[in-house]
Amino acid sequence: MRRFLEMKRRGERIVMLTAYDAFFARMLEEEGVDLILVGDSVGQVVLGYDSTLPVTLDQMIHHGSAVRRGAPSSFVVVDLPFMSYQVSVDETIRNAGRVLKETGLQGVKLEGGDPRTCTMVEALVTAGIPVIGHLGLRPQSIHTLGGYRVQGRGEEEAGELLGQALALEQAGAFAVVLELVPAALAEQVTGSIGIPTIGIGAGVGCDGQVLVLYDALGLNAGFRPRFLKQFADLEEMARAGIQAYAREVRAGTYPAPEHSFGSEP
Ligand code: KIV
Repeated sequence: MRRFLEMKRRGERIVMLTAYDAFFARMLEEEGVDLILVGDSVGQVVLGYDSTLPVTLDQMIHHGSAVRRGAPSSFVVVDLPFMSYQVSVDETIRNAGRVLKETGLQGVKLEGGDPRTCTMVEALVTAGIPVIGHLGLRPQSIHTLGGYRVQGRGEEEAGELLGQALALEQAGAFAVVLELVPAALAEQVTGSIGIPTIGIGAGVGCDGQVLVLYDALGLNAGFRPRFLKQFADLEEMARAGIQAYAREVRAGTYPAPEHSFGSEP
């Protein structure tokens, strides 16, 4: 955690990506990604839900454990899913504690910066659980926000978001994700708080950046928001591979003799 604060002080940008399984987690660790997030975006990206709301604590633990096995030395944070930290302080601590105990991961992320959420953050930090906050577009509140749109536009909303970032820092969060926030506001927040900001659709003025790994690698072809840069096109490669396999099986050219075993011992 201290490492990320020091990176902010030195002006070194933090590289964060999501992972949901051991396969990709291993690659992120080997490629030196600074911070891995087991996002509840697993709900849409991997599990086929149309929002993050159905994701359960057990599912986050299942995927978090896989990420730990793939990236045993990385700093990994798990999203607390919808309704696992809203009911009471006791339930929040119990749920976050269970996630850390059963996955072996280091911290949790939760959405919001209102006074009640900050109470939860403070209680978790007091219990020894590192927390990342999440402001701006909060996918778990999609029904109250009324859709996936830029947050913090206009003086009032901007002031509220800045106040919530300060409150999260005060509550003990060690970083804040800023999602779909005007670049100028994200830069202002970044300059106003002592903890790192990690942007997604929040411009270059944040202390670090995060993307959903599948989006960054082109494994989510239908999803092309303005903020997303596709750094690889794995979907096209995967489709080409599947088509080639099917062609060869149908033509009887795979398996060839070199892929087959003789009967001699
Ligand atoms: O769930 C997730 O993947 C996230 C990132 C988009 C920050 O919260």
